[in-house]
Amino acid sequence: MSTLKLPLPDDFHVHLRQGDALADYARDIACQFGRILVMPNTVPALSTTESILNYKNAILSAAPNLEPLMTFKIHSGLTSSDLESFKAMGVVAGKYYPAGVTTNSEDGVSDFESIFPVVSMMEKMGFVFSVHAEEPNVFCLDRETAFIPKIKTLAQKFPKLRIVFEHVSTAAAVKAVLEMPSTVAGTITVHHLTMTLEDLIGDALRPHHFCKPILKLPSDREAIRKAAFSGNPKFFFGSDSAPHKQEKKECAYGAAGIYSAPVLLPILVREFEKENALDKLPNFIAGYGADFYGLPRTTREIQLVKKSWTVPNLIHGVVPLAAGKTLEWSLL
Ligand code: DOR
Ligand code: ZN
Repeated sequence: MSTLKLPLPDDFHVHLRQGDALADYARDIACQFGRILVMPNTVPALSTTESILNYKNAILSAAPNLEPLMTFKIHSGLTSSDLESFKAMGVVAGKYYPAGVTTNSEDGVSDFESIFPVVSMMEKMGFVFSVHAEEPNVFCLDRETAFIPKIKTLAQKFPKLRIVFEHVSTAAAVKAVLEMPSTVAGTITVHHLTMTLEDLIGDALRPHHFCKPILKLPSDREAIRKAAFSGNPKFFFGSDSAPHKQEKKECAYGAAGIYSAPVLLPILVREFEKENALDKLPNFIAGYGADFYGLPRTTREIQLVKKSWTVPNLIHGVVPLAAGKTLEWSLL
């Protein structure tokens, strides 16, 4: 039976939620990943040292082998002493959410320039600036493209700031990341790598494929695939795994988010294998992201085996990506 050994991957974009479910979600991701960048869009948001520390401890008590890399949610009221205490506790990045653009972002930023003083401090202190790059109140398919000028402004105005264009979903975003300096990188999700709008609304409405940024056109997916399989260090893995309970998705006003955590590595291996790009997978999942964040590359490993399994229809009350489908690679 064929097996595949990989460096234990990093996932540079994960949502773990709050309350009882957090432990389940943390353990699911810990089965496949060694380090994860934890998103701060909880309620209330992770914007104080106390909330970040409590959240980190909750993750560690559920999954002691997982290394959570913590983030804070950016708002214009953050002071230099806030940022210094984040730094002292090992927080690696601040996340920018435009107000109202996605799940739990009502408290996001509504005045772009109002955060420039915070961004300037982040640049000096070496925080990564992670951004949900969508312009609210623009037609849904055009939101990401409409935000690109803001990323260009940030990259120019703050030349030492490391910026991560999260979950690139368009050819325009891929092109922008490629054109901008080496301080700008992009994360790629499994769902934007494998699906298009067709999978959301083509034959039927499939709410479990609804996410922000929304799935786009075949040409966009092609550009994302090319970026991932090319081995360009500007692109690395961030799943944006975002669980919502079944009833929050299967309703009249469904939440955005795809629970991909349980199937990430089997799907990544399948896709890289299909493109004859398995040699590019280790850097994509355990190299370029760590380098960009200035973290040591992992020395731990994980093994997969070519043995088919069927993805459960429901995991902790959440319908996961590829529910009911057969995947040919399993974790050993
Ligand atoms: O689909 C999404 N879900 N996109 C995001 O940006 C947030 C996430 C969530 O927290 O549910
Ligand atoms: Zn996200």
